[in-house]
Amino acid sequence: MNFGTRDHLDEKNGHLTIGGADVIDLTQEYGTPLYVIDEGRIRSNYRRFAAAFPDADIYYAAKANGNLAVLRVLAQEGAGADVFSDGELYAALLAGILPDRILFNGNSKTDAELRMACETGVRVSVDSLEELKNLSRIASEDNKEVEIAFRVNPDVSPATHPKIATGLAQSKFGIPHDKVLACYEEALSLEGVRPVGIHCHIGSQILELSPFAEMMIRMMDLVEGLKNKLKLELDFVDIGSGLGIPYTGTAPTPIDLANTVLPIFFERASALGIRPKLVLEPGRYIVGDTSLLLCTVNTVKEAYSTFVGVDAGFNLLLRPTMYDSYHEVIVANKLDKTSDHTYTIAGPICESGDILARDRRLPRVEKGDLIAVLDTGAYGFAMSSQYNGRTRASEVLVNEGEAELIRARESYGDLLMGQNIPPRLL
Ligand code: LLP
Repeated sequence: MNFGTRDHLDEKNGHLTIGGADVIDLTQEYGTPLYVIDEGRIRSNYRRFAAAFPDADIYYAAKANGNLAVLRVLAQEGAGADVFSDGELYAALLAGILPDRILFNGNSKTDAELRMACETGVRVSVDSLEELKNLSRIASEDNKEVEIAFRVNPDVSPATHPKIATGLAQSKFGIPHDKVLACYEEALSLEGVRPVGIHCHIGSQILELSPFAEMMIRMMDLVEGLKNKLKLELDFVDIGSGLGIPYTGTAPTPIDLANTVLPIFFERASALGIRPKLVLEPGRYIVGDTSLLLCTVNTVKEAYSTFVGVDAGFNLLLRPTMYDSYHEVIVANKLDKTSDHTYTIAGPICESGDILARDRRLPRVEKGDLIAVLDTGAYGFAMSSQYNGRTRASEVLVNEGEAELIRARESYGDLLMGQNIPPRLL
């Protein structure tokens, strides 16, 4: 079986293995549906990315996979974090990521979130002039000075699913690039905020390099404008991320991305006589291919298609339903059998859109077989829900063949947590 670039996957006696662990053994111990994450692969992905950008800071995008153990592994590797909410900030700090290596992003932060940013000493990516004024007020009340960047909308259109392109002119994120200088000017006049960086992120799962070059040029134009017009020399330029991974086919590597953006970054910075730090915020590249979603076949039904009904659907992996995303699917207990049947893999949710994979060539599938959905480490569990009264899956971390539970399967109690029937209804 050809696993492409996924060195952590292998075959043993017809079974799929991940990080040296047989997935059949894992499901016998932990049941299904089950998310399995390979620690070695998280570390090697991080190191590969960091090695491509030796002078940069890498802020892992915690939204991709916010499991505490995953954050802890990345903290050990030296990653900072891009957080998008108070909850992500709380988890990142708990995992040991240092506050001065955290950027608090978000287009609609609450006052409480801004206060939390002030209190914990993280930097804030400010998304609007109104947020700037609000943050200045909150920080001044607390006698704090917060280091900020502005989130720029660079108006760059990458070829990706429209729901995950974030740098288009019409996107909700950031400040139009032609209005950014005025925001810095305002920030320089306010108390409690100190502009030290500039930030953007053009989208996710981007497979071509030219939008990154376009974005880098636009960002350095702004850095130049800040230096020449406002005499402001920034400490960092954060270009977000968006590097795609090969769910199918091929994808550019971190080195390709580095070769695209670094020459522009260094040439423009040295022409200005400044040395800002480059910051990147990869999520998908670090964790995307590290994980499998394992599910059991409940039924095989001959209908319009031949539907394989499994015990995980868009409650646990929303991507195929939300973005028509392709995820490779394997019959994990039949790797030695020929793929001579065509199946559509359907989840158990009461919605026609609950299809994990369509018309895939697989070996003959029967009730009880184990289906592995590949590359589910980014935006998999992170986007899960309890829809249809389904408990969320457990997660295990595999390290050199040994598995440890890093999130327990939810109980019915978890489903009802915090709910109560008002006494008058009893
Ligand atoms: N920085 C910012 C400000 C972001 O908004 C994101 C992702 C990232 C970094 C990380 O981007 P990445 O390296 O993972 O491409 N749920 C969608 C993806 C949403 C991405 C949201 N922002 C999906 O499943 O494809």
